[in-house]
Amino acid sequence: MQKFEWTDSLSVGVPMIDTQHKELIAAFNDLSDAIEQGTGSTSIKKLLVFLQYFTEWHFGQEESCAAKHKCPIAGTNQQAHAKFLEIFGELKTRYRESGASEEIARQVHTQLADWLVSHIMTIDTQLGQCIRHRSTSVA
Ligand SMILES: [Fe+2]
Repeated sequence: MQKFEWTDSLSVGVPMIDTQHKELIAAFNDLSDAIEQGTGSTSIKKLLVFLQYFTEWHFGQEESCAAKHKCPIAGTNQQAHAKFLEIFGELKTRYRESGASEEIARQVHTQLADWLVSHIMTIDTQLGQCIRHRSTSVA
């Protein structure tokens, strides 16, 4: 399972958002470790519970920051978050129906971790640019 290293290409340049992204990446890396050690099925529940609360809160933070700074990418970002929550919902249903397994742990990692990293690099970085630009022009 792929592990993600924090690099500058993942930084959106807004400390609050970067800190939250680091938490998410660390959680997926923990899952990746667990899968490699054959304990994905015991770690998956913990990750799903964490994601349930953390992603909703984090997306809310990003969205209100985008709205506050009137960022043009705000709508696209919001739609992308809704898409993530939809995929997450499908995975939770699969988990509820089939129970914890190495297979579901892999599916969660493959579908959500890749999504997250590409979302950060494409959309959140643009959001970060806007927030930084507007913060300095207002100041
Ligand atoms: Fe985002």
